[in-house]
Amino acid sequence: MTTSDHVARNRAAWDAMAPDYVAAAERNWARDEPTWGIWGVPETQLHLLPDDVAGLDTVELGCGTAYVSAWLARRGARPVGIDNSPAQLATARRMQAEHGLEFPLHLGDAEATPFADASFDLAISEYGAAIWCDPDRWIPEAARILRPGGRLIFLGNSTLLMLAAPDEEGEPATDRLLRPQRGMHRFEWPDDPGVEFHMGHGDWIRVLRTSGFEVEDLIEVYPPDGATTRYPFVTLPWAQAWPCEEVWKARRLG
Ligand SMILES: C[S@@+](CC[C@H](N)C(=O)[O-])C[C@H]1O[C@@H](n2cnc3c(N)ncnc32)[C@H](O)[C@@H]1O
Repeated sequence: MTTSDHVARNRAAWDAMAPDYVAAAERNWARDEPTWGIWGVPETQLHLLPDDVAGLDTVELGCGTAYVSAWLARRGARPVGIDNSPAQLATARRMQAEHGLEFPLHLGDAEATPFADASFDLAISEYGAAIWCDPDRWIPEAARILRPGGRLIFLGNSTLLMLAAPDEEGEPATDRLLRPQRGMHRFEWPDDPGVEFHMGHGDWIRVLRTSGFEVEDLIEVYPPDGATTRYPFVTLPWAQAWPCEEVWKARRLG
């Protein structure tokens, strides 16, 4: 397979995983206050979103079940979602019908979207394009479809977690560095059909800047006491000692 086989592989992987994401979709669509990431850190603590999104044209890159776009719609934004998995979008469409909240959902690749240049004020991804798309492709594409001054915000696994995560599925992150950071980019786990992308911070800054972004913030996410997650790949003590997730915020230069 070529290096761009990941889009087809990830579609198959996500169509198969979609049933496991229905319960989270139902929970998140029913919630007005955003909570983020695997620990559900509240927006009031994380401040991931801009203070005011009313009237903004937003695009969610790898929207999955599109609850992030639902939260944006309820705050007055005009969201559009794009996702590569028909099964994930089927859940999103069912949620739209149940909640009477319609916005456009596109089946497609966030690395090569159908949107015109300078269409959006905000591009966002929570574990969508953020980890499932090649940064060398999706970051320039996000820059293309954002207006000058537009914001890119994305949340995914931290660089540190990716260095400390064992290959074995279900095993939590260790306190050892298990692989080199140098050259880190494409990840294929032995027990997982999907392809992920994770990089070091220097490489993230470089791809953002060469794509026309100014980096505004890097928020390292720490879950509050008592937080829980259904994911086995990190424990609460680990995540309270080191960030297991991070949020990048960047602004499209004019
Ligand atoms: C964990 S979900 C993230 C979305 C949402 N926050 C959720 O949890 O439902 C990851 C999503 O990324 C999507 N995805 C993977 N590769 C993609 C690509 N190349 N273009 C668009 N979406 C993609 C998958 O289909 C999946 O729905």
